[in-house]
Amino acid sequence: MTSNQDNFSATPVDVVIMAAGKGTRMKSKLPKVLHLLAGRALLQHVVDTACALAARQVTVITGHGATEVEAATAIPIRARGKFDLNFVRQEPQLGTGHAMQQAVPVLQDDGVVVVLSGDVPLTRPDTLAQLIAACANQRLALLTIDLADPAGYGRIVRLGEAVTAIVEHKDATAAQRQISEIYSGIMAVPARMLKTWLARLDSHNAQGEYYLTDIVKFAVADAVPVVAVKTSDATQVAGVNSPVQLAELERAFQRRVALELMEQGVRLADPARLDVRGVLRCAPDVSIDVNCVFEGQVSLGEGVQVGANCVIKNARIEAGAVIHPFSHIEGGTPGSKDAIEIGAGCLIGPFARLRPGAKLATEVHIGNFVEVKNSSLAQGAKANHLAYLGDATVGERVNYGAGSITANYDGAFKHRTIIEADVHIGSNCVLIAPLTIGAGGTVGGGSTLSKDTPPLALSVARARQVSIPDWKRPSKK
Ligand code: UD1
Ligand code: CA
Repeated sequence: MTSNQDNFSATPVDVVIMAAGKGTRMKSKLPKVLHLLAGRALLQHVVDTACALAARQVTVITGHGATEVEAATAIPIRARGKFDLNFVRQEPQLGTGHAMQQAVPVLQDDGVVVVLSGDVPLTRPDTLAQLIAACANQRLALLTIDLADPAGYGRIVRLGEAVTAIVEHKDATAAQRQISEIYSGIMAVPARMLKTWLARLDSHNAQGEYYLTDIVKFAVADAVPVVAVKTSDATQVAGVNSPVQLAELERAFQRRVALELMEQGVRLADPARLDVRGVLRCAPDVSIDVNCVFEGQVSLGEGVQVGANCVIKNARIEAGAVIHPFSHIEGGTPGSKDAIEIGAGCLIGPFARLRPGAKLATEVHIGNFVEVKNSSLAQGAKANHLAYLGDATVGERVNYGAGSITANYDGAFKHRTIIEADVHIGSNCVLIAPLTIGAGGTVGGGSTLSKDTPPLALSVARARQVSIPDWKRPSKK
């Protein structure tokens, strides 16, 4: 290990996330940093990055929509890491330097401060670790990038190799505007130095703002080395200012996820037509057809096949199960009784709907237009067409006929239906809960049952068929 890395591992990292800006170009009532990328708020992505850096403290600077931003993020953020979380308000917003000045009271002197933006969601932790190593608690380290179109950004001004200043676009001379290396908005800086420099900022510039980027001048004046860590990955420093940019970063994020999955051996019919909004875990030999959306926590066992156009949320799907196209599988909170379990060798869909609490044992078949909610189906049970199972316990090898439903709700309470092993329910039955169908029983098609049935019985509850001979239909003549 070099001495730099020793310094890095010994020095606490305190992250400050700037998130006070308005985000006018989103044209939305929702504060910009609460817009979702891959199902998580932009700010949440940045906080997760801070977590990956093992930050000691995370400070979020809020302003526009502060109450909403703080309320929406405090709980999920606290759930994630062991770090201290502070929200600091910046009102009014007088620039990035002014934003950082608000954080000074909560920053300790011994740390390295990493400055991030709430609207730059895809910076990789290893890039920031490089930046922190370059800072080594004794230098000012800037994350920079060469851009073909640097308009609008702060330019990195160098004398030879040494960085001497960041000049904002609006303050730059024509010659400086030719510089293609720009400041990403991300830096690592020793807290004790940052504090002295922030105290020296003024707003004598083209925008009348306090520029954080002016601290580069002070570092040079104080003979503190300024180092640039240049990335070539524009995605990592890209900010979200508009719906178009948000959609572009969403695709960039999804491309990353798709590549990682394929590297693990997952066969994606088209990596450009996959959306993972959460965590997708795949065993070997999983294949996923086009236009599938995975949300929350989903795990796919060995050899699972997912057909085109499926939406799957909070579900564990065991080996060899096949999810046919257009199936909608939406489990509740991961790990709770509402999460969905689909056993090995199950066949689901096409056009199946599994709702919270669907628990399917091995080799269960759920066919087209079948809805299952808060119900368990034991091994080999089948509901192949047009049916509803709500609050039901279904035994092994049950066959549940087309068009049959459990009437589980009396207008005030939900009741359970128990269908014991080897029952055959005919087509178009209504099972009025609470109700138990005894093992091995048969229910005649078209029956409406409200009383328990004994094992092995044939139960029929419908009007007896009558045929009137030579029936003359009414006629107009
Ligand atoms: C800033 C940098 C510029 C850099 C660019 C990268 C300054 C002066 N300039 O530009 O060199 O190339 O980022 O995107 O720092 N914010 C606040 N309070 C404020 C102003 C901004 O919290 O008073 C937040 C914004 O919400 C945003 C971040 O700071 O998250 C950056 O602000 P933005 O206005 O986008 O950056 P620029 O000043 O244009
Ligand atoms: Ca910006």
